[in-house]
Amino acid sequence: MDSIIRYIEENRQRYIDELIEIIKIPSISSSPDHSGEVVRCAHYLKDKMLAAGLTQAEIFLTPGHPLVYGEWLGAPGKPTVLIYGHYDVQPVDPLNEWETPPFEPSIRGQDLYGRGAVDDKGQVYIHLKAIEAFLKNRGTLPVNVKFIIEGEEEIGSEHLGYFLSAKQNLLTADLVVISDTPMLARDVPSICYGLRGITYMEVEVTSAQQDLHSGSFGGVAANPAVVLANIIAQLKFSSGHIAIPGFYDKVLLIEEAERRALASLPFNEKMFMEMSGLKEVTGEYGYSTLERVWARPSLDVNGMLSGFTGEGSKTIIPARAKAKISMRLVPEQDPDEIARLFEQFVHQLAPTSVTVSIQYLHGGKPFLAPCDHAAFQVGRQALEKGFGRPAAFIREGGSIPFVATIYEILRRPCLLLGFGLPDENSHAPNERLNLENYQRGIVSSAYLLEGLAGVALG
Ligand code: BES
Ligand code: MN
Ligand code: MN
Repeated sequence: MDSIIRYIEENRQRYIDELIEIIKIPSISSSPDHSGEVVRCAHYLKDKMLAAGLTQAEIFLTPGHPLVYGEWLGAPGKPTVLIYGHYDVQPVDPLNEWETPPFEPSIRGQDLYGRGAVDDKGQVYIHLKAIEAFLKNRGTLPVNVKFIIEGEEEIGSEHLGYFLSAKQNLLTADLVVISDTPMLARDVPSICYGLRGITYMEVEVTSAQQDLHSGSFGGVAANPAVVLANIIAQLKFSSGHIAIPGFYDKVLLIEEAERRALASLPFNEKMFMEMSGLKEVTGEYGYSTLERVWARPSLDVNGMLSGFTGEGSKTIIPARAKAKISMRLVPEQDPDEIARLFEQFVHQLAPTSVTVSIQYLHGGKPFLAPCDHAAFQVGRQALEKGFGRPAAFIREGGSIPFVATIYEILRRPCLLLGFGLPDENSHAPNERLNLENYQRGIVSSAYLLEGLAGVALG
């Protein structure tokens, strides 16, 4: 391994420069104006896979954004590792809060700033560059490798399920490796064994055909903004419990042993509050912060829109009000079923004076991995070699719909190795990636590939 590690060190600057190039491509999946850039990014990544030495790389078109597939299968008899990630990124607004433009990556201190730096281009490159080091140095890899890098993760992976079931043979693997999660904290390399799922809804309340004069109609016309606010207020009790009937029916309770394990993690609540700027943490009664975020469901309003929001005043009763509401789910909750329960409850809360329409925007299943497979020990050792620190086993509150889907199809271990930091601003202005972790991640990935060669994956 010495020559591989040396190669990674010698190429440190080039590996950073190449990451900068892909971050420059504004592959914002949610923006129709950027669909050309999303496609350009897919082709760019495909070329980079070939340049790294993969023997095959291909673009798969979907009704949405394309997927990039790559492979190197030159190690017969050795395990096959499927590496998943996403090349699409979140929108950049509010743009004026970025210190440097989101698609003109720049380095300040130890950090590389730019949209997609940590979520997820940097973490995809960690594995690609480790593989490149083997192939350029030895001409061969310790294991077989397949890449599936999608372009719709940030918008719910709508077309991924169809692709996965249609291409099952192509994706056969002994193990899945994903780097799209944060570490618990600086210097705590982490293996994530659980993710929350998601159900994302949009609710629109309408009353009159158009805005009404609030002097002529105030007191008799239902106000959609008020009605919607009322509905939202009834979705949760003051205990933090979600009020939708049946919502908790399938929630898997946290076992005592896991509660103890979570409580003993090096998690610093004060730092958690500092990094977010929260004045206090609140939530469901009876659970710790990590339990609330990782192992209990939640419900949040992502955005609301109604009436006059310009400067000054205008006296109207708005004709409509809209809210985007998402629920984070835990095993064994089912996103489609939760969408139905939500819909029923909201319709039940709505007064007859208004019309309520509800749309189910997307859903993704939660995931909880059995982590007793030998691959997890290899993953832990790889992280410890790469970071020189003990690794932690954690869960996360975010969602990656691919994980539960691929697990259902392959029934193989899914190893989620996180190289991001919790304060690297993914989805926010000034997203960044710690370049030390980028380097350590590449080294860890190299040790992982090497270690997996010796594991019986059957
Ligand atoms: N990388 C994140 C997922 C993530 C975030 C895992 C935080 C762990 C902690 C991913 O890119 C993401 O943002 N996922 C979306 C999925 C959604 C659009 C279906 C999410 O969690 O909001
Ligand atoms: Mn991501
Ligand atoms: Mn994301």
